[in-house]
Formats: sequence, structure tokens, C-alpha cells
Amino acid sequence: MNDRQIDERRGALYLSSDRGRLDLDAVLAMLHDSHWGGGVTRDVLERAVENSLCLGVYHGDRQVAFARAVTDLATYAYLTDVIVAQDARGQGIGSWMVDALLRHPDLQGLRRIALLTRDARTLYEKFGFTTDPPRSTYMELRKAI
Ligand SMILES: CC(C)(COP(=O)(O)OP(=O)(O)OC[C@H]1O[C@@H](n2cnc3c(N)ncnc32)[C@H](O)[C@@H]1OP(=O)(O)O)[C@@H](O)C(=O)NCCC(=O)NCCS
Repeated sequence: MNDRQIDERRGALYLSSDRGRLDLDAVLAMLHDSHWGGGVTRDVLERAVENSLCLGVYHGDRQVAFARAVTDLATYAYLTDVIVAQDARGQGIGSWMVDALLRHPDLQGLRRIALLTRDARTLYEKFGFTTDPPRSTYMELRKAI
């Protein structure tokens, strides 16, 4: 563990930013169950994990949640793949991960933290995320993959 890693316990649950602890098969299974991650391959997930700041939440040996921030560690972060296993939802794990990412020592002082969500707005609004920032228009270049 290094100083900039997050390791926290809540009852039987353990949250960690240690990439080495991630169970990529469990993450892939959760993503394949989501409305956005059905097409993610193991190779793509491995590259994404390697190049993101990642969090896992564990119940014993079982990984029950995952989230990551794509970031330059200086000005910007994009939170994505925030997901909790179906049978572990509604216990505050999603909120814990968002809170932990926002507290992470490597994500302090950024100018902008962004995310896209279809139906989990209330989760993020609790932490101050808003829609429609003034004087800006969201644009994207979409690629079919
Ligand atoms: C969204 C998700 C990560 C929340 O995780 P969770 O551990 O169940 O969330 P929490 O128990 O911390 O609840 C957080 C808040 O978000 C709300 N919330 C959770 N899931 C929600 C959903 N799908 N739609 C609307 N609100 C939701 C809860 O009501 C709760 O509000 P409260 O604190 O006022 O009661 C989880 O439901 C999930 O994995 N969903 C499928 C994947 C997904 O949609 N991820 C978000 C991508 S942006």
C-alpha cells in the first residue's frame, strides 16, 4: 500500500484503490449486466483499468462493486463504470465509492469532474454534481464499437 492509496472498511465491506486486488472477471460480469458495458472485452477492461484510478469494494473475497476515474491527475477527471452488483445495491456502496473518489488525494484541486448518467442522477446530486453548466455546451464525437 502506498500513501496515496485509499483503503477503508465499513463493517464486512472493504473499499480499496489497489488495482492489484481487482477481480477483473467480476468487474466484467457486472459491466456486462449494465446498460452501457455489454460490449466491453477483457482486453479493453485491462487497458482501461491500467490507465484509470480504480476502486473496488469487497465482501470477503468477493468483489461487489467497481468505479473508476479517467484523469490527468491535475485538472480533470471523468467518473465512469460506477457499478454495484445487483444483490449489493441500496446499502450505500455506490455513495461510498463516489465519496471516496472525490476524497482521493490524487483527485484534489481539479478544475472539473464530469460524468454521464442515465438514471442515477440522485446518487451524484448528493455530492454537488449538477447538469447544464452555465456557458457551455456538451459535445462529443461518437464512434460505433
Ligand atoms: C447506481 C448505483 C451505482 C448505485 O449504487 P448503490 O450502492 O445502490 O447506491 P446507494 O445505496 O449508495 O444509493 C445512492 C443513492 O442513489 C439512489 N439511486 C441508486 N440507484 C439509483 C438508480 N438506478 N436510479 C436512481 N437513483 C438511484 C438511491 O436512491 C440513493 O439515494 P439516497 O441516498 O437518497 O437514498 C447502482 O444502483 C448500480 O450499479 N446501478 C446500475 C449501474 C448504474 O446505473 N450505474 C451508474 C452509472 S452512471
